[in-house]
Amino acid sequence: MNKDVIIICESIYHGNTMKLARAFSSRLQCRLITADEALLVDLKAYQIVGLASGIYFTSHHPKIMAIIDQLNVNHQTFIVSTRGRPYLGNYHAAIKDALANKGVEIIGEFSTKGYDCTGPFNLIRGGNIGRPNEKDQLKAIKFINEILPEYIRDLTAVPNGRNVAITSQCVGCGSCQAICPMNVFAITNNRAEIINEHECIHCSLCQRGCPEQAILIRHSARELIAIAKHHSRRKSL
Ligand SMILES: Cc1cc2nc3c(=O)[nH]c(=O)nc-3n(C[C@H](O)[C@H](O)[C@H](O)COP(=O)(O)O)c2cc1C
Repeated sequence: MNKDVIIICESIYHGNTMKLARAFSSRLQCRLITADEALLVDLKAYQIVGLASGIYFTSHHPKIMAIIDQLNVNHQTFIVSTRGRPYLGNYHAAIKDALANKGVEIIGEFSTKGYDCTGPFNLIRGGNIGRPNEKDQLKAIKFINEILPEYIRDLTAVPNGRNVAITSQCVGCGSCQAICPMNVFAITNNRAEIINEHECIHCSLCQRGCPEQAILIRHSARELIAIAKHHSRRKSL
């Protein structure tokens, strides 16, 4: 588990921002908590704090803004949001001002469109349907790779010739075995073991479901094409 980075997210409307926050947390192998949970955490223990929420009436959620009180000049932060309108404009101005007042360094900011059916969007059955989508998530991952390359471990930590790996953080809880539709995992001696890697379809359910964030997956283009070929004639689970 990444001990330097923590992400705090309020995503009260459709869970749009939480989708991004989960992608970041999985990429960074770091803790992801709500603003209420953050009140119980000593944020001084972390060097980098990600602040994420939807945009509600032109700025971040008030609980995210309130967290800034707990930050200090030793912290660095990155700002994340999803919004209804097509362009970001000055929606990050309030949070940036508040961070500047506390002397907190901002190492990056990311915003994308999120599904929104407030007000006039109802005339068209909601705006930004399906957003953030896969493309947005890829952009988000690119952003995090760029601002925090030293914390991106998955590509380098998966041994050569393998696409899935289990780190020493595994406690053998069996979540991966229970959730994997392809029976890739077994639990042996209180640890997950990969017994069927050639069946893995990179759905990432194991990674998302692992409470210890102990599963690493390398999505190489070559492997993803091989998976499509391998399963092309399959007609059922
Ligand atoms: C109470 C409320 C106020 C909102 N205000 C704005 C706004 O000022 N500008 C905007 O672009 N979107 C606005 N939205 C749309 C949200 O920013 C958008 O749907 C966002 O993706 C929600 O994120 P969430 O699902 O993580 O809560 C608002 C939504 C709600 C519910």
